[in-house]
Formats: sequence, C-alpha cells, structure tokens
Amino acid sequence: MDITPVVREIVLPEHGDDRGTLIALESLSEIVPFEVRRVYYSFDTQPGCVRGNHAHRDLRQLVICVSGAFTFVCEMPDGTRTEHRMDWPNKALLIEGMVWREIRDFSKDSVMLVLASDHYNEADYIRDHDEFLRQVGRAP
Ligand code: TYD
Repeated sequence: MDITPVVREIVLPEHGDDRGTLIALESLSEIVPFEVRRVYYSFDTQPGCVRGNHAHRDLRQLVICVSGAFTFVCEMPDGTRTEHRMDWPNKALLIEGMVWREIRDFSKDSVMLVLASDHYNEADYIRDHDEFLRQVGRAP
C-alpha cells in the first residue's frame, strides 16, 4: 500500500454566466493532485447493474458524474464504508490508494467520467473482496 488511502468529496469550481456553466480541470492542480495519464467513461449502464467491485493497489482517481446520477460506495482499509450520491456535474470524488469501490444505482442517462493517474494495468487491480481484506490486514 504505497499511497495513503483517501476518499474526499470535492465541489468543482464553476465558470457560469448567462450561457450556462463550464468546469475546467488541470493536471497537478489543487483539484487534480496528480498527472492525468488516462481518462475513461462508462455510459449506457444497465438498470440494477453494479460496477467496480475492486480496489487498486496504487492509483489516484477523480470521479465525476457528467450526466445523470449514480452512487459510489467506498470501503476504507479499516472497514469504514461511505456512500456518495453523485448527481450533478460539479461534484467530484477523489479516491487514492487501497479503497474498495462499488458503483450502483445508475440512472439511465448516467455518464461516469474518471481521470486516473496511470495507464490501465490489470496487475494494479484487486478484484476479490477477500483478497482486499487480506491485503489490508483484516483477514488472515
Ligand atoms: P472493468 O474494470 O470491469 O470496469 P468497472 O470497474 O467500471 O466495472 O472494465 C471493463 C472492461 O474494460 C475490462 O475488460 C477492462 C477494460 N478497461 C480498459 O481496457 N481500460 C480501462 O481503463 C478500464 C477502466 C477498463
């Protein structure tokens, strides 16, 4: 576990005027405290589906709901679980280090955008919850 685990809700600063609203994000800024090496988004998520169900050994991510809504559940290494209803594009969730995530209750129009600190690397994933418990010292 190289990165200290962090889960933090962030209200993104908006540039709004009578035309509407714009949000800008930059690498290595106060809002995005890492270099962005990957961007991905999920959409057309089927009703009742749960995504995620994994932890990362060594990754920083900023999660944004650019459309619709979903609920992001985080389990910290000590077992603390937090639920974050992501339902507006000015809400972001910063997640760093060993945090188990489950994403559920997607609305039909939801688009989940993720900025990540590294390229896709399956070796960085822990996809088995029992293995997560072992890795964080909560199971033998
Ligand atoms: P998966 O990890 O199952 O998504 P989620 O955690 O949101 O449920 O990824 C779905 C597929 O997409 C899987 O085959 C891996 C692939 N994928 C990439 O190729 N690159 C990526 O950056 C991500 C996040 C997934």
